[in-house]
Amino acid sequence: MKKTIAVLAGDGIGPEVMDVTLSILKAIANKYDHSFEFNEALIGGAAYDKHQNHFPEETKNICEKSDAILFGSVGGPIEQMNQPKWHNCEKNSILGLRKAFNFHANFRPVTIFPELANICPLKKEIVDQGIDILFVRELVGGIYFGEHKTKEQDGVRYASDTMEYNEDQIKAIAHAAFQAAQKRKNQVTSVDKSNVLDCSRLWKQVVTEVSEKYPDVSLKHILVDNCAMQIIKNPSQFDVILCPNMFGDILSDAGAVLPGSLGLMPSASMNNQEFMMVEPAGGSAPDIANKDIANPIAQILSAAMMLRYAFKMPSEARDIEKAVDTVLSKNYRTGDIWSDGNIKVGTKKLGDLVCSEITTL
Ligand code: IPM
Ligand code: MG
Repeated sequence: MKKTIAVLAGDGIGPEVMDVTLSILKAIANKYDHSFEFNEALIGGAAYDKHQNHFPEETKNICEKSDAILFGSVGGPIEQMNQPKWHNCEKNSILGLRKAFNFHANFRPVTIFPELANICPLKKEIVDQGIDILFVRELVGGIYFGEHKTKEQDGVRYASDTMEYNEDQIKAIAHAAFQAAQKRKNQVTSVDKSNVLDCSRLWKQVVTEVSEKYPDVSLKHILVDNCAMQIIKNPSQFDVILCPNMFGDILSDAGAVLPGSLGLMPSASMNNQEFMMVEPAGGSAPDIANKDIANPIAQILSAAMMLRYAFKMPSEARDIEKAVDTVLSKNYRTGDIWSDGNIKVGTKKLGDLVCSEITTL
């Protein structure tokens, strides 16, 4: 099969974890006789250097001509946030891409690798119950995309951000969540703040209506504050957690600490035409960039999500996931997930190990 992939490596650790991931995709292409064409494009600070724009038109065109977008990470060091290169960098590039392609549905799976159960910050008896959650987050609505205002009135500074949802936006993400649950454990927990917010009352109503079309899937509603607590206290109760944009941002980061490192979490965002962008859930980590120490697993597993969901290549995706499992079971670790008795390796070496497992699987 021939596929064209827009490669947006970005800033910080983006380019090095992307390099490793492209080698792995080449190994998959060789093994299965596919042809993957990688079209690199600039995004974030890297794009700003050349175009004074974090998400240039040229990049958008390359994405439009591709079968999927493989995204790295964007953003600079906190202490340089006010420089034009980094000011609003994440917002302009990530939200720009989401809006440009209407990537309304964001999938963030959280699982514990059995080999890494010891680095989960929760107690062993909780981890032993099993943790396998899929966050399904609405991504192009809510408070992120409502009107934002900052002004000064009579010497008093004022700011406002408007949260809004219409029923079509809620229906679309609810269908995505129920369909995802049907491929898992048939359970959706929908998150709201319906004791306070009108948006949440509408959310709850519309999700309940959509659930009637999925009689095989059970639906529970949970308040966002309680959900935050339950993710830490009793994560095994969850299958799919369905969230509006901002609650999903916050709760998926709470979920992201469970595997033990942000460097382990892949994610995928898609639109109604099943066009998709995959990306690691962690950031650009500029403090550890170019040192060959970043964990490339989240980027590698994001590529596996692209193969499975965008290209319908389940065996190829499984090969990558199995290869990562095998490398971990042989005790190879990057620094962020290393503990006594493991073999510490760098970004490139970990990628090479995954590549060689793929060829021998
Ligand atoms: C995420 C990020 C983004 C978001 C930021 C960088 C705009 O935190 O993908 O979760 O808030 O959606
Ligand atoms: Mg976030």
